[in-house]
Amino acid sequence: MNTTTNAIEVIKTKASKINEVDFDNLKFGSVFSDHMLVCDYKDGKWEAPKVVPYQNISLDPSAKIFHYGQSVFEGMKAYKDSEGKVWLFRPLDNFNRLNISSKRLAIPELPEAYFMEGLKTLLKVDSDWIPENEGSSLYIRPFVFASGNGFHASPANEYKFIIATAPSGSYFSGKVKVLIEQKYSRSANGGVGFAKAGGNYAGQFYPTQLAIEKGYQQVIWTDDNTHEFIEEAGAMNIFVRINDTLITAPTSDRILDGITRKSIIELAQAEGIDVEVRKLSVHEVVEAAKNGTLKEMFGAGTAAVVSPISGFGYNGTDYDLPELDAPFANHLKKRITDIQTNKAEDPFGWRYKVD
Ligand code: PLP
Ligand code: COI
Repeated sequence: MNTTTNAIEVIKTKASKINEVDFDNLKFGSVFSDHMLVCDYKDGKWEAPKVVPYQNISLDPSAKIFHYGQSVFEGMKAYKDSEGKVWLFRPLDNFNRLNISSKRLAIPELPEAYFMEGLKTLLKVDSDWIPENEGSSLYIRPFVFASGNGFHASPANEYKFIIATAPSGSYFSGKVKVLIEQKYSRSANGGVGFAKAGGNYAGQFYPTQLAIEKGYQQVIWTDDNTHEFIEEAGAMNIFVRINDTLITAPTSDRILDGITRKSIIELAQAEGIDVEVRKLSVHEVVEAAKNGTLKEMFGAGTAAVVSPISGFGYNGTDYDLPELDAPFANHLKKRITDIQTNKAEDPFGWRYKVD
């Protein structure tokens, strides 16, 4: 039956796929829930969003997304607690960042109500798709792209905003070995590195493939100018622990202002961990690895949460990180996921209940 919830039209699928999904063996982002939110931008305005069955999209071959890559996206998660209540984590930060990204790509910004009410309606319709198992969640992918036609290299006059969701398990299966990048860059001063623009990720694939061929799983991005300063870890922000101090690079127009990153900084500080937000040179990390003061490195992001690094390669040499009994990474991962999944108090007000 088709219903209208929160003024958002809902067209339900007649053939749910939920019984085909093995919720005990979920991969990351590879099966998709029954419905999606769709919202079109036409004639200078965003039209009312709708929840519709998950389906293919038909586009003209000249749609500008295909040629000029005008597209931005977000990554979020919904969690179900032991009582079946559904939670999001700092969702307004994702909404605001989507619009920051859109603005940089000359995409029209979305109204907050379309994003938030649309997302909540979608989650209610597909609430059975939100996994309850430990370590699993419903990964949420909001994205906006140029659906308008024409080969002229200028912003499109039509766009689509879609939210698709995927019940997901962990992003990485274990620790990752990384290569510190000395040639390629993911972003540059004045560029789009701070935006979640689709093209940023396409540009990372080739250097990452080269790193994988050499036996690493991810690339540590360094500044584009000198390659001397550590900036990000693949599609995550990076934290490095030297002695008992946690160091992370300051955000800039080259670095994504990660929601996990800023939450980890606050959580660590609240626990009395010394956190330094400052430029961190490759030289300092290599020296710390050599003299034994380098204790941990980890990536932080929505998909991977906190992803410990086992070692890194630089200039043809591999450096291993020590196995610690009580790494900051494990502790901070537990703190953040306990807050996200309503297992611990949330003194920061980050958790957002979906009613
Ligand atoms: N850095 C990049 C390049 C990313 O793509 C992501 C993922 O969203 C992050 C950092 C982490 O950001 P967040 O914690 O908001 O997911
Ligand atoms: C996320 O962490 O949600 C991201 O968007 C990274 C992604 C490329 C998987």
